[in-house]
Amino acid sequence: MKLDPLPLPDMITAPRTDAVYNCHAYLTKVPVSAIQPFIEAFTKPGEVIADSFADSGMTGIAAAMAGRRARLSDISVLGQHIATGYLTDVSESDLRRAAEGVVQIAKAALGQLYQTRRGSDGAIVEMIRTVWSFTYVCPACNGELVYYKHLQRGGTVAPDKCPHCRAPFVRRTWRSKSDVPVQVVVRNAAGRLVDQDVGEADLATIAEASADPRLHEIPSLQIDQSREMFSRSGLGKRGLTETARFFSPRNAIALLELWRAIHGVEDARLCKKLAFAFTAILPRASRRYQWSAQRPLNAQNQTYYISPVYYEWSVFELFDRKVEAAIRAAADVFGPTPLFRRRNTDDVTYTIASADDLHHLADASVDYVFTDLPFGSNIFYSDMNLFHEAWLGDVTDHAREAVMHTTGGKKVGAAERYEALLRGAFAEAFRVLRPGRYLSVVFGNSDGRIWGLVQRAIRDAGFRSVPVHVAILDKGQRSVKGLNSGSEGVVTVDLVMTLQKPAEVDAGDHSGDHPRMATRDLIGHVLANLSVECTINPSHIYAAILRDAIHNQQAIDHLHLSDVLIALRNEGYEIDHKTGLLTAGRTAEVSLAAE
Ligand SMILES: C[S@@+](CC[C@H](N)C(=O)[O-])C[C@H]1O[C@@H](n2cnc3c(N)ncnc32)[C@H](O)[C@@H]1O
Repeated sequence: MKLDPLPLPDMITAPRTDAVYNCHAYLTKVPVSAIQPFIEAFTKPGEVIADSFADSGMTGIAAAMAGRRARLSDISVLGQHIATGYLTDVSESDLRRAAEGVVQIAKAALGQLYQTRRGSDGAIVEMIRTVWSFTYVCPACNGELVYYKHLQRGGTVAPDKCPHCRAPFVRRTWRSKSDVPVQVVVRNAAGRLVDQDVGEADLATIAEASADPRLHEIPSLQIDQSREMFSRSGLGKRGLTETARFFSPRNAIALLELWRAIHGVEDARLCKKLAFAFTAILPRASRRYQWSAQRPLNAQNQTYYISPVYYEWSVFELFDRKVEAAIRAAADVFGPTPLFRRRNTDDVTYTIASADDLHHLADASVDYVFTDLPFGSNIFYSDMNLFHEAWLGDVTDHAREAVMHTTGGKKVGAAERYEALLRGAFAEAFRVLRPGRYLSVVFGNSDGRIWGLVQRAIRDAGFRSVPVHVAILDKGQRSVKGLNSGSEGVVTVDLVMTLQKPAEVDAGDHSGDHPRMATRDLIGHVLANLSVECTINPSHIYAAILRDAIHNQQAIDHLHLSDVLIALRNEGYEIDHKTGLLTAGRTAEVSLAAE
């Protein structure tokens, strides 16, 4: 395939805001709009695209939307469930009708557990959500502190002392007691949401749910000490060693009844789409849904964190909204109206397979590979998948998961296993690609050694060592919270490197090690060309440095984000702690003006 000229920009901005992206969360996703330009550039309609770290299937969706075929694979059972859910087309009206039906059945089976008494007129109504708070015990006086009740400054600042003896409050060391409900939200007679205090009726239904025998039937999986997320999320301390424990008794029973009703739907496609909407609500239906004084904060996808004030949100409210979100996403995937639903998603397959063993794909059978590599030690997919997979009845086999463990027994040899897996994955990508065709790899990391490892693995697989294109991919700003919590050393932009499989079998270029240029010089070059408009963060600079070095075939092992941060500070740049963006401090203005 001849590419002349490449219609690809050097910087691809794809905010994570579209209907498809937001419909069903998975740990990380490349938005469809970021993948589309690559598909257009490197394939023709009808050709086959493979993604061997397919996670929630965005490559397959982008391929189907562009009239291409796709062969997706991943070890993730949850990823396969989500991707096939996205790619299941059903009629809007049938889906709404089926959703209403299952909610009706589940509500009847739930009985009165969501019922409460409206404060204003005493009417029996359903609770929309209940706010719960952690309770702590003061080690000095044994008095209780209900966290929510002692928040300061309009609920934005944590309590700082014991309300009884004024001993300083230290969250890490104070013992916790049972969580308590602190506020209920219902609809008033006009249908508007109103807050009210927790009353007798609430306490009665909460107690009734806690004694309900159906609690023993909630699908659940253990998260034991062998899982990295066990220690990272401090699960042992709070007794959260089973996925079912993340749900309040009322929500656990509502979910169970809804799941049963969904499985009673005879039409397999409708059942599949409803199950997709169901798993999409699980984090918010759990205690992981974080309360905040201003507006609800999402559940954190990458950890099992429960905030000291959290929601118990009506499962049915969440589900109704998710079904509408699924309808909006499907309009993007399949076309807006039934008449225009001409996109063929039948030729997108999703196989459970490790990327270093693509046995389902024949040699030279694929026209293009687009894949987003696992980044190392930040996110533990299979551990987080347990939360959803408890309901799916099948679990990701993580024996060959490409992650770098940082705790427990798996820490030993973690880097070597990760490297071996990536090498195997590139070798397989090379094998299945037709000669002369392209592989695009999304990757981000703050450690130059990992970059070097990836660069060598690609080259050793046989790809030409000079990429045909390197783009910076900006998926939008990470949360301000993430940046504030001291993680400015986390990369927030990735690179997309595109490499060619030589047309002739042994025309690959295995030139030896790349020359090494001093970090200071590489950084200096990018900084010299930096605009002081400051709409960028340090990750952009780091990515630009890597891009230049990769283009120029220089070694990158010694290029760490931390060095870039130091160089930026030395040059007088500052990082705004609220936005994470780079601002030119006084010194920088002076030194740039002097140049
Ligand atoms: C798309 S990648 C990485 C996304 C993002 N770049 C990151 O690091 O967070 C994540 C996916 O890789 C999958 N994965 C990990 N090891 C794998 C392996 N050996 N074979 C196939 N998929 C694997 C995980 O299940 C997950 O769905």
